[in-house]
Amino acid sequence: MDYSNQGYKEWITEVNFLGIVKHPNLVNLVGYCAEDDERGIQRLLVYELMPNRSLEDHLLGRISSKLSWLLRLKIALDAAHGLAFLHEEMDFQLIFRDFKTSNILLDEHFNAKLSDFGLARHGPAEGVGHISTSVVGTVGYAAPEYVQTGKLTAKSDVWSFGVVLYELITGRRSLDRNLPRSEQKLLDWVKPYATDPKKLHLVIDPRLEGQYCPKSAQKLVALANKCLMKQPKSRPRMSEVVVMLEHIIEMPNVKTIPKALNASSYAIEDDNDKTVNVKERSSFRHRVFELREIIRLRKLDWPVMRLGRTL
Ligand SMILES: Nc1ncnc2c1ncn2[C@@H]1O[C@H](COP(=O)(O)OP(=O)(O)OP(=O)(O)O)[C@@H](O)[C@H]1O
Ligand SMILES: [Mg+2]
Repeated sequence: MDYSNQGYKEWITEVNFLGIVKHPNLVNLVGYCAEDDERGIQRLLVYELMPNRSLEDHLLGRISSKLSWLLRLKIALDAAHGLAFLHEEMDFQLIFRDFKTSNILLDEHFNAKLSDFGLARHGPAEGVGHISTSVVGTVGYAAPEYVQTGKLTAKSDVWSFGVVLYELITGRRSLDRNLPRSEQKLLDWVKPYATDPKKLHLVIDPRLEGQYCPKSAQKLVALANKCLMKQPKSRPRMSEVVVMLEHIIEMPNVKTIPKALNASSYAIEDDNDKTVNVKERSSFRHRVFELREIIRLRKLDWPVMRLGRTL
């Protein structure tokens, strides 16, 4: 077995970490195995079923659903709890390194859990500012100082969190090559609007149909901007992000969003274009996911996108 192989490294990181750590906002690893067959070594990771799939699936419209404003805030809070746990609540610090909407999974009640710990790294020892590492992750989410220098701190995850906040606010991807050139990079596109409260409504996800509390949107943008400060030290810690998000959720008018847009009335389109309630579909989904999605085969040469090359 080639132990230096990236696929093996990711697999073993995931098994080692998720095998021992449990948290309500981290996905459960149900099982794993590695087998040698004629195709080489096949590695398997089996996760708990997350019937509402990933946040990315919802934001990209792969699942026809309306994520209400309150639900978006709740998903952000759950994900923040997950990151805060990794950064600050264990005996050692873990830097996630691949925080993005496709790695935020949603259970049957739309509770959010982080998945994919293959790229996670131990944080620096006490008194050491950063660790130096090869740059891995996903284009559009990685912090600029990490991409430029390879210096990794927990604040790199905080940057990625800021990017995801903007994706929740706008409903757009961090990088979308299908849009006109000036709109492709989300952070560049939102900048002029995000700094002017009067213009903010122009970038809020149109699928919300105006059903959000404008003051809370301003606060959320302010929080996203803090996470996206150029200087890593100026970005908040994830435990601070948790507190700020809790305050936003408690703001007047945030919870009084029309029922029609809340999770309980979520509808997904079935293959015949009919809409049915998620709960009614869950057993069907369970079967489909068991076969196609949940059992994920990580092959020996699982490629890792090197940002240096792909940017
Ligand atoms: N435990 C799960 N339950 C339900 N759906 C899942 C689960 N894990 C993954 N998925 C689905 O599979 C999709 C792809 O996830 P996967 O982690 O394989 O790729 P990715 O996040 O897009 O890329 P990367 O390999 O960089 O993490 C998710 O967007 C989600 O829809
Ligand atoms: Mg993933």
